Amino acid sequence: MRAETSTPINEIMATRRSPRSFNEEVVISDTDLIAILEAARWAPSAFNGQPWRYFVGKRGDETFSQILSSLGEFNQKWAYKSSALILVASTTSKSDGTPHADFQYDCGLSVAQLVIEAHDRGLVAHQMTGYDKEKAIQALSIDESLTPVVVLAIGTQDVPEKLAGPMLDRELAKRERLPLETIVVRGLPA
Ligand SMILES: Cc1cc2nc3c(=O)[nH]c(=O)nc-3n(C[C@H](O)[C@H](O)[C@H](O)COP(=O)(O)O)c2cc1C
Repeated sequence: MRAETSTPINEIMATRRSPRSFNEEVVISDTDLIAILEAARWAPSAFNGQPWRYFVGKRGDETFSQILSSLGEFNQKWAYKSSALILVASTTSKSDGTPHADFQYDCGLSVAQLVIEAHDRGLVAHQMTGYDKEKAIQALSIDESLTPVVVLAIGTQDVPEKLAGPMLDRELAKRERLPLETIVVRGLPA
């Protein structure tokens, strides 16, 4: 369902959403996977520090199972059908040893670009912080120089009716946002 925007905006932003109904028959192509990672690569970052690091699993491979095992129970229930699970981790200190103060912000920008590229290609992306970071570190043998930031399920959207109960309700729910008058503290044109 399209977002109800106060004025027309970019089509991807208006129609993108975070679905939970994934088509488990679909295999993601390497072309699409490389393209979404390439989009993530070209995000801006503080001092061009590029702290993001990507762990990529395709459904059926070991990395996918390892990331899936770190997800919370609710997220496992739907994410196992996605075509790829991606864990984003970040370096937290720069090459000179000083802290990378903006690493979470930088990773968010990189993931935002990945998400837009995915949706522009007809895929869908669903971000998750409902996972156990310690489990992810153990399962993926994540180096201690990296901190897990977020997990994404990528795939092809299936019909909502493949879900049931509260998950189906959430899939069909209207996308809601705070009004511009709330988020723009000062300076919103009348
Ligand atoms: C950082 C972040 C963490 C999220 N964690 C979860 C999660 O663990 N499980 C889940 O089902 N959805 C999760 N979401 C999805 C949000 O609930 C969703 O983006 C929000 O409700 C807005 O819906 P929309 O993306 O469809 O517009 C997360 C989204 C973000 C950006």
